[in-house]
Amino acid sequence: MVKWVVKKGKFYFPSKEMKKIAFVKNEKIYKEAGENPIKFWEKLAREGISWFKTWKKTYVEKPPYFKWFVGGKLNASYNCLDRHINTWRKNKIAIIWEPDIPNEKNRILSYYDLYREVNRFANALRELGVKKGDRVTIYLPMIPEIQISMLACARIGAIHSVVFSAFSPNALKTRILDAESKVLITADGYYRRGKLINLKQSADEAIEGTSIEKVVVVKRASNEINMKEGRDFWYDEIIKKSKNYCKPEIIDSEDVLFILYSSGTTGKPKAIVHTTGGYLVQAYWTAKWNFDLHDEDIFWCTSDLGWITGHTYVCYGPFLNGTTILMHESVPDYPQPDRWWEIIEKYGVTIFYTAPTAIRMLMKYGDEWVKKHDLSSLRILGSVGEPVDKDAWLWYFNVVGNGRCPIIDTWWQTETGGNLINALPGIGPFIPTVAGRAFPGTRASVLDEKGKPVKEGERGSLVLLPPFSPGMLRGLWKDEKRYIETYWSKYGNRIYYTGDGALIENGFIKITGREDDVLKVAGHRLANAEIEDAINRHKDVIESAVIGMPDPIKGEVPLALVILRKDVTPNEQLTNELIKLVEKEIGPIARPAKIIYVDDLPKTRSGKIMRRILKRLIKKEDLGDLSTLANPECVEKLKEILVSQNL
Ligand code: PRX
Repeated sequence: MVKWVVKKGKFYFPSKEMKKIAFVKNEKIYKEAGENPIKFWEKLAREGISWFKTWKKTYVEKPPYFKWFVGGKLNASYNCLDRHINTWRKNKIAIIWEPDIPNEKNRILSYYDLYREVNRFANALRELGVKKGDRVTIYLPMIPEIQISMLACARIGAIHSVVFSAFSPNALKTRILDAESKVLITADGYYRRGKLINLKQSADEAIEGTSIEKVVVVKRASNEINMKEGRDFWYDEIIKKSKNYCKPEIIDSEDVLFILYSSGTTGKPKAIVHTTGGYLVQAYWTAKWNFDLHDEDIFWCTSDLGWITGHTYVCYGPFLNGTTILMHESVPDYPQPDRWWEIIEKYGVTIFYTAPTAIRMLMKYGDEWVKKHDLSSLRILGSVGEPVDKDAWLWYFNVVGNGRCPIIDTWWQTETGGNLINALPGIGPFIPTVAGRAFPGTRASVLDEKGKPVKEGERGSLVLLPPFSPGMLRGLWKDEKRYIETYWSKYGNRIYYTGDGALIENGFIKITGREDDVLKVAGHRLANAEIEDAINRHKDVIESAVIGMPDPIKGEVPLALVILRKDVTPNEQLTNELIKLVEKEIGPIARPAKIIYVDDLPKTRSGKIMRRILKRLIKKEDLGDLSTLANPECVEKLKEILVSQNL
């Protein structure tokens, strides 16, 4: 069995075998790219992407705005598909799809299959009246039609907005209203743990009173659904009537490719805007170098397409590279805890990229589930979405990777479009709990409150510095004010504030977690305020505060502290109602793990709830100075309540 890593001193480094094949293996790349990042990206843009017309200016900055490859013309779907079908990759597998239920048939699509479907669906969307710049909302489960829909939109210049299929009808509605989409693409249903989920019913509920005029329905589960004459169309039927070729729209480098909603610190989700040229350049190269994607590889990134990880590493990044990807409809432990290991063995997956929450969950089931399977095909393991703790890192490394594979711990965000901080497989070092360094040609730093770089070992705020990487967000959809406030206020308009805390260890960046009021529940990004808003809708609730409570599997889970109206006594039914409300407004992922009823919450003199104090209380950290509170006496009482609840 090939060993892809070796231990040198305290850390792991790529082995000779890895060095032999890795695309990037010389540490000098960081220095060389850093000397002239703009020139560096210009070269990558030329080599990695096919342009209909070359750009006039490589990088233009007008803080806090910036543009890449200005004046360049291209098309994302052309880059992901057309350029492969004129080569031997025409018949290469693009997607291997595994269903939720193991004995149901899998699906295999070649690049040519994908190309043909995308072309036909792009024509069908045009027939439905979709034009360049229109927004199309995609509410689909993990089936290949989700990538087909994204690429079909990209082909005709429509802006896609993918909404995670487990989000509630209300969450979908908010996102449709904000984007003003005219068309929704959804499915009849899908399976999760063998159970049928009626997705169309949720979609029907969501679109009432929105701008949606047409709905395309993919048949996945053949369940009974309502089809509204004149509004709803079966995907299969409209595809059948469509022509095989759709000429790709000529897209400007800075035209919007997609918007993707993500949680910030307020109740309202924000639509992060990504444009075409820069995003594709970064998606191509970060996929190729971070995962060292070769033509023989089978790349499995387990993320749902509803998140940025899905966009960049289950669609654009691998397809730009002509890679074979694997996608699984469902969860890691159904019907048995070895479902994922079985899939890796079945197809000989070489690169596996998942989230710490999944690693911790699978670790809990025990080593024997992994050991039942031959995972010798694996070469690189990746992690994303939240800090990976040492136990999970070591288990992933020793048990899943059998001590042979590097772990690429990739830090990034919906906003950054692609991985930005990690170790490269051919360079390393691979250090438990340490992400690594900024991708060549990009710059990150850790600053103290005054904006000075911290010393080794000290905590600070993670920031990104100009020139900002080509794939970074270009703004928030229709919300310039929030864009400036969120990212460009803490350190000024040329330093991007990530919202994450970090420290430097042995010269490498270690991420410590969110500094702001954003939760990471099982890797999903949620705003404390979003959950509070849902709870506060209940007629008996006066006020609430939601904080993250440490959880051994999910990293953290929402804990809600709720103040009720004076005449209401807490009871189980009320707790259930509050949980249901959160599920209805956001979805099951946001469900509070615990609800505690309290009389008071720590507040500033201006009446703002101090979640920071609550967070420290729950983590049993030093509470710091309480003198700024209007009601410091409530803190002791809260402490007692938490202790009585075994927290
Ligand atoms: O807190 C960081 C955490 O996830 C946040 C971004 O969340 P989202 O936009 O949903 O994108 C997730 C997938 C890219 C970051 O601000 N995060 C992401 N990757 C890591 C991480 N925290 C620690 N280590 C990582 N590798």
